[in-house]
Amino acid sequence: MTDFLERRRQRVAAALDLNDEVLLVGAGGPIGIPGGADQVFHYVAHSDYFFLTDRELPGGVVAYDAKSGWMDFVPEVTTAERVWEGKTDNPGTPLSKLAGWLAERRGRPLAALGCPIAGIVGDAARAPDIAQSLLHARRPKDDVELERMRAAAAATAPGYAAAKRVVQAGITERQISIELECAFMRHGADRVAYDTIVASGPNSAVLHFMPTARVIQPGEHVLIDAGVAINRYVSDVTRTYRAPGGDDAMFRDLYNVVLAVEEHAITQCTAGCEWQDVHLAAAVGIVTGLVALGFMKGNPQSLVETEAHTLFFPHGLGHLVGLGVRDGSGRAPGRAPSKRPGLSTLRADLPLLRGYAITVEPGVYFIPALINNREHRERYKDAVVWDRVEAMFAFGGIRIEDNVVITDGAPEVLTAAIPKALD
Ligand code: GLY
Ligand code: MN
Ligand code: MN
Repeated sequence: MTDFLERRRQRVAAALDLNDEVLLVGAGGPIGIPGGADQVFHYVAHSDYFFLTDRELPGGVVAYDAKSGWMDFVPEVTTAERVWEGKTDNPGTPLSKLAGWLAERRGRPLAALGCPIAGIVGDAARAPDIAQSLLHARRPKDDVELERMRAAAAATAPGYAAAKRVVQAGITERQISIELECAFMRHGADRVAYDTIVASGPNSAVLHFMPTARVIQPGEHVLIDAGVAINRYVSDVTRTYRAPGGDDAMFRDLYNVVLAVEEHAITQCTAGCEWQDVHLAAAVGIVTGLVALGFMKGNPQSLVETEAHTLFFPHGLGHLVGLGVRDGSGRAPGRAPSKRPGLSTLRADLPLLRGYAITVEPGVYFIPALINNREHRERYKDAVVWDRVEAMFAFGGIRIEDNVVITDGAPEVLTAAIPKALD
């Protein structure tokens, strides 16, 4: 086993704080496409399994007993797999020996983590806590993980450069996504990190919009949210570019609000800082901008206390990222869900610690479903300049997203090479 996996496993074992539990982590199997006969979705091992083994192995199981250490159980490769997929033997102990390994530990609580393992039912009462401890232990990224994230960021930058070059009237969202993804792949991406979002004009108010054949009009902007995966580690970036034409004053004003909020939030990403506080400060910044531009009325701090910002900034400021696009998100150990409705969309509720990788992605959107909602109209009657806001439906929204790593000093911005200043 490679040194980094040895170190990683030692670190995790120390953090798990097991009593007498025996641990299994299942990789999971391929998922069939409904009605697709023998076709399966692209296989991705459970992220806990991948973290502990650094391999995609359908049906693999990693086991741990504090008294005897780690064991890798691997499925036998079938002749059909050798013929159709060119598979070769997997290093490890045959999966058929797992039952015997467990029988030697009969009477001890069994924590079955990761994906379900055929024929095995865990019984450890502390299994959910152990799963949380494992997730928590994975949050600070080690050097191997950070190198892959840097490589992912490096492959992302040329994609955005290619996309920016082609954003102009007459091109479609789909054509932009092709240019973007083509450059990603040329620069080392294994695949995209998630389905690429390209949203033009009013479509940019849909948070996760999939590119269509819609043709960009002069003066419209295009929101692109995309990333790459390299060895399972990802980038998650958003830039908003404007096609030349027309009056750009409103775009510039709103863009500069989002940019200033994003840049300030990044400076706050330091060890010990509460993510909720960074999010709420960003919300105040966005509302301050919307008041200054005549879309909202009142004191920004008080408006955020009433959750009025969620009309225009309805998602969290960001999420942990790394081994997948939502890696390690959730709450710090022992925390209960926030009772504040505006924080329910925040995917991470924890203090930022050294080695955490997190996205910073504020946005401002004019979303008909939120603005036309009757309850919102009533609740925020005096907080919003409704006729001005309604006039913005064709505008859509703006988001800017970077990936940062918490250090002992200023954060490392992995995606800093992707320009975001207005031309
Ligand atoms: N890429 C989706 C997101 O930023 O959460
Ligand atoms: Mn994103
Ligand atoms: Mn994101």
